[in-house]
Amino acid sequence: MSSTNKARVVVLISGSGSNLQALIDGVADKSLPIDLVAVISNRPEVMGLERAVKANIPAEVLDHKTFADRERFDQALMAMIDSYHPDLVVLAGFMRILTPEFTQHYLGKMFNIHPSLLPKFQGLHTHQRAIDAGEKRHGVTVHFVTAELDGGPAIVQASVPVFTSDDASSLAKRVQRQEHVIYPLAVKWFAQGDLHMIDGKSVLKGEPLPPSGFQIESDET
Ligand code: GAR
Repeated sequence: MSSTNKARVVVLISGSGSNLQALIDGVADKSLPIDLVAVISNRPEVMGLERAVKANIPAEVLDHKTFADRERFDQALMAMIDSYHPDLVVLAGFMRILTPEFTQHYLGKMFNIHPSLLPKFQGLHTHQRAIDAGEKRHGVTVHFVTAELDGGPAIVQASVPVFTSDDASSLAKRVQRQEHVIYPLAVKWFAQGDLHMIDGKSVLKGEPLPPSGFQIESDET
């Protein structure tokens, strides 16, 4: 941890940054004992960058379109991230497939949030796919990042009901409210030294978590 004794956290984004905002809010109200040391976006001019600037967090753009291939982009991204000496890297709507070198470099020190109850619905369009599959419940998972896309050990999962009146947008909103609860929670556990990835499993306060992670059920409409 850093000299202030708080975990140094770098957040990677590609878009609106509402999950970044949840972390910024947690720092502001002192519920989250971390230093947000940088926000890096692979897309210029996204709202998440404005959120970072407003919160006085260094905001950087590394545009993947200016790189010849995925390997070179990931190498440059690693160099940029490491210049901030993070204890934790948080992928918050960072819409890139990562090279094995990248995931290996941050193994046990990088989280992702994925809008489904993993292992269900890896990949894109998760809300529509949950509706189409007739799921009664849907949700979101925070997990450690490994080389397997959307496949690392789960840390925490929040589920919400799916209503027959739902479309992808109404369901996404219900899920996102839970995202903004569980991402700060997982980051807090890590920052407090309570959460580790050991032998490919998430371990919270010395106890291995179940394969789907710590479970939170919300019945909010
Ligand atoms: C979030 O809903 C997150 O779960 C999703 O992108 C959104 C980003 O929103 N992530 C993925 O789909 C990753 N596969 P935000 O920019 O407002 O935090």
